[in-house]
Amino acid sequence: MGFKHKDIIALKDLTKDEIELLISTAENMREINSRDIKKVPTLRGKTIINLFYESSTRTRTSFEIAGKRLSADTVNITASTSSATKGETLLDTARNLEAMKPDIVVMRHAVSGSHYFLGKRLSCSIINAGDGAHEHPSQGLLDMLTIKDRYGRLDGLKVAIVGDITHSRVARSDISGLTKMGSHMYLAGPPTMMPPGVERLGNVTVCGTMKEAIQDADVIIMLRIQQERQGKTLIPNTREYSRYYGLNPENLKWAKPDAMVMHPGPINRGVELSSYVADGANSYVLKQVENGVAVRMAMLYHVSGGTLATE
Ligand code: NCD
Repeated sequence: MGFKHKDIIALKDLTKDEIELLISTAENMREINSRDIKKVPTLRGKTIINLFYESSTRTRTSFEIAGKRLSADTVNITASTSSATKGETLLDTARNLEAMKPDIVVMRHAVSGSHYFLGKRLSCSIINAGDGAHEHPSQGLLDMLTIKDRYGRLDGLKVAIVGDITHSRVARSDISGLTKMGSHMYLAGPPTMMPPGVERLGNVTVCGTMKEAIQDADVIIMLRIQQERQGKTLIPNTREYSRYYGLNPENLKWAKPDAMVMHPGPINRGVELSSYVADGANSYVLKQVENGVAVRMAMLYHVSGGTLATE
């Protein structure tokens, strides 16, 4: 099966088969990352622009490494040093970049839906590296790959997501992808951070307490409070937040003994995750980062018209 999309903007737009294809390609790509010389000629001659209007450590770096490992030429633009600071519109910036004939633009932007807007207007491929509180498909895919590595499957798992669900694009991509793959999602967070109607997304249960969400969970995904998107303070203070929605060695005991603890980063240690848990035996945080490179290689490969990575 080939990949039919020009752009990858949201996991909600992909079928289960397409998600499986991206994950299995990422599994194959991993072999390249363990070689001495981590480079294959697959995307030689292709140009990738990483256009980041919001800060990023993991996502931007791993998209750049992914492009380089596939031999593409990668160029990075950050908003603070671009003409956005001189008043240029997003569409003008994008059209000017497209005049230089890139093959793929990987973009992070604070406005939800900005990738759909550009995707319709530009002929090059657009990959969403995070749009506001909408989606973060590469994070969703790398989370699924990390869970699959551990359990060999995604269906029938109890996956808890705890924290600021309303403002989290990671939560939206995880819910979208994992429910399609047959996982059951249990969400917990302060009522001010729980989007109304989220249970309509599929196999999703909104829990009244963190205990209910993580009890016997196979996977616990912890989220950072997205202060930059809230516009106002939604919790009395972080100490109280941490008491009710922070994961520590005591409440981790409610989950299965070998439950996976995941976090997209950046972690606010001592707020949503205690250092003991973040660095402990249940933590898969660095495994997620490692898988992020392979997943992004798979995404770049498929929007470039690749078929199966094994071919
Ligand atoms: C996340 C993001 O930017 O959406 N980080 C990431 O990409 N790994 C989550 C966050 O910022 O809390």
